[in-house]
Amino acid sequence: MPVGTLANVKTLTPAQLRDTGAQMILSNTYHLHLQPGEGIVAGGGGLHKFMGWDGPILTDSGGFQVFSLSEMRKISERGVKFRSPHDGQIIELTPERSIEIQNTLGADIIMAFDECPPYPVSREEVETATERTYRWLLRCIETHKRPEQALFGIVQGGIYSDLRSRAANALTELDLPGYAIGGVSVGEEPELIHEIVRVTAPLLPVNKPRYLMGVGTYREIAIAIAAGIDLFDCVIPTRWARHGTAMVRGERWNLKNARFREDFQPLDADCPCYTCKNFTRAYISHLVRSQEILAYTLLSIHNITEIIHFTQKIRQSILQGSFATDFARWLNTDNS
Ligand code: GUN
Ligand code: ZN
Repeated sequence: MPVGTLANVKTLTPAQLRDTGAQMILSNTYHLHLQPGEGIVAGGGGLHKFMGWDGPILTDSGGFQVFSLSEMRKISERGVKFRSPHDGQIIELTPERSIEIQNTLGADIIMAFDECPPYPVSREEVETATERTYRWLLRCIETHKRPEQALFGIVQGGIYSDLRSRAANALTELDLPGYAIGGVSVGEEPELIHEIVRVTAPLLPVNKPRYLMGVGTYREIAIAIAAGIDLFDCVIPTRWARHGTAMVRGERWNLKNARFREDFQPLDADCPCYTCKNFTRAYISHLVRSQEILAYTLLSIHNITEIIHFTQKIRQSILQGSFATDFARWLNTDNS
């Protein structure tokens, strides 16, 4: 899922986004509540109509963003209080409030309101957050009023396998339409992320979507898919695009680099995207150097297409039974 925090994937029109092959996009309760407010989105006919995207949309619950973005937050059993970065007002988000806002926004998938502990932090604190996240989930289920929106639960538990498996088993009992693994990629070593995913994903039902939140790039995606993950979101393709960086065949290219100034090839001759079909590295390099907005659009189109294409190739390999060999380079099993 490309990230469309504020009801748009930055620099792209929905038509451009559709052509990348992206299906579902991710938007955000925290940001949309602050600006423009869920009432305005509902007034515009709900999130899909408001933003002109008729594909599926998932909204994150806002908990994670409160923890990572706002100052002076206060966590209690009730929920989280924080200061609005817009006008300094005190705002409270609770499981009930998050679900009400998400019901009003109208995404296809909504996320439970959870507490994502930072890393590193004591085991005791992680345990408290994990258990509170479970109690909050029960309140989310109780509040949720629109069954056509699928409510996903989130497994927390930090780097502790026993906390992860306890949470995964408890959530599975609730028979939700889908499950997420949260609390990863918060500063821990990549090897630890892989370990968490390898332990947790197989404990979640195979017949429900399994979503790894906030991950990732090629290697993380390949390893997580091998462990059973179906769904990802990550800002990297679009964020890098806005920094003038292209993702090409597993590499990261800064288009400001002198080597691109007179390079009249496409970014990737094999890439089916609009950018690669119509423009050269030299042209994109020129736009990036000139800080032209079109640079960020063209790079976003390419980077999203690139990562979606990567997952499409994995899917094909799985269907052909050749995933482990085709993707050995990414799965760390390439001993050649
Ligand atoms: N995005 C990335 N990680 C998380 C998480 O742990 N919880 C939520 N709600 N969103 C996330
Ligand atoms: Zn391309």
